[in-house]
Amino acid sequence: MLAIAILAAGKGTRMKSALPKVLHPLAGKPLIDRVLSSTHGLKPNRRLIVVGHQADEIKGALKSTQDLDFVLQKPQKGTGHAIQQLIPNLKGFKGELLVLNGDVPLLKEKTLKSLLELHKGSDASVTFLSARLDSPTGYGRVFTNQSGTVKEIIEERDCNSEQRKNKLINAGIYCFNWQQLSDVLYLLSNKNSQKELYITDTIGLLNKALHLEVDDPFEVKGINDRYQLFECEYHIQEKLKSFWMRKGVSFIDPISCTLSDDTDFGTDVIIEPQTHLRGKCNIGNGCHLGPGSVITNSKLEKNVLAIHSIINEAIIGANTSIGPFAHIRPESNICDNSKIGNFVEIKKSFIGKGTKINHLSYVGDTTLGSNINIGAGTITANFDGKSKHSTTIGDYSKTGANSVLIAPIKIGSHVTIGAGSTISRDIPDKSLVVERSKAIIRTKGD
Ligand code: UD1
Ligand code: CA
Repeated sequence: MLAIAILAAGKGTRMKSALPKVLHPLAGKPLIDRVLSSTHGLKPNRRLIVVGHQADEIKGALKSTQDLDFVLQKPQKGTGHAIQQLIPNLKGFKGELLVLNGDVPLLKEKTLKSLLELHKGSDASVTFLSARLDSPTGYGRVFTNQSGTVKEIIEERDCNSEQRKNKLINAGIYCFNWQQLSDVLYLLSNKNSQKELYITDTIGLLNKALHLEVDDPFEVKGINDRYQLFECEYHIQEKLKSFWMRKGVSFIDPISCTLSDDTDFGTDVIIEPQTHLRGKCNIGNGCHLGPGSVITNSKLEKNVLAIHSIINEAIIGANTSIGPFAHIRPESNICDNSKIGNFVEIKKSFIGKGTKINHLSYVGDTTLGSNINIGAGTITANFDGKSKHSTTIGDYSKTGANSVLIAPIKIGSHVTIGAGSTISRDIPDKSLVVERSKAIIRTKGD
């Protein structure tokens, strides 16, 4: 039997933030989501999260995650005290308890599997992950016996200057034999510099403790402050970008670009400076993105060009060009060979093949056919002050510069609308419509 407990009740004081530490995002995903993802393949019988400080926010953020029990720790008197709160929940439980720190987000499932394997194949009461760090500042130090078993873990603030030189650190990830742990949990004392109950003190109280040193110290990096958050972000970004460069994506200036781990690229994609991909994006072969574009939860077919533009929750067809300075808002579907140009905003609209909206337009709640030309400054007036209404335009129609189409409205196909018209009624196919007041010209002396 395997139970997993994630510690997330601490105050996270060093973050100096109103947002709970474990909800801070890393490449767009909250730390706690990352920790949870690393446990998926372990098939635990129970998953528990210890919450306390800002418990409701954390519970709210995880409400759609299934098979998760929340355990309240109030007040928060240290990591050992957090584990003590599990006792009523794990009454009668026999097996391993895997303890994860909610602020160690880069851990790989593979490493957790090795930890469980090592523990199960030994007679140890606890096995935990360790790492050898060049700069171990802030971490608990691991002291071993000659046989290689662990004698104790001493928190940095409780170390003397000699002990502090030890570079072997505790990663805060433990696999305990639950029955043996629960027998010693009540023995913890708060005689330390923080006056807290430390989970690390159980090591000295248990029969046998082993540690597993990880190969990549970054995997067990803990986040206590925003600098460490940045270090992890940098590390993730570096890994993602180098992975995609090796798969055929060019970055002109990778340092200025960020990716999410749910971004998927075809080949021969070029990413120009200051371009960011967020959420789940699918970018087809030959796309050229940036400079200065932000693309979120969108699918771009092959050869899409997007310069200085924002694309959010949209689908963009092949060979379509977006920008410069276009804003494509959610639920928009722009078909192949279209052009959405300078200072154009598209919202919740379908744009047919080969249609062009080149300059200064707002198109919202609209269905456009194919091969339409929307003139500069055309506006679909979709809001009457209370509700939104839709606009439809048929294939091959043209709107003149500064046309205003008052929705709800249907414009047929092969229609031409004269520049400066405000149209508030449906227009049949193959017609020309102009609505303008007559110019009144008076010359001096009239
Ligand atoms: C802890 C370890 C340290 C290790 C480091 C690894 C202890 C005493 N020290 O130190 O040896 O090197 O992690 O990153 O365990 N938490 C609770 N309830 C509490 C206090 C903390 O749930 O009362 C949670 C926090 O939300 C956090 C985790 O436990 O997710 C670790 O707490 P933190 O205060 O960050 O411990 P560290 O000082 O980093
Ligand atoms: Ca920590």
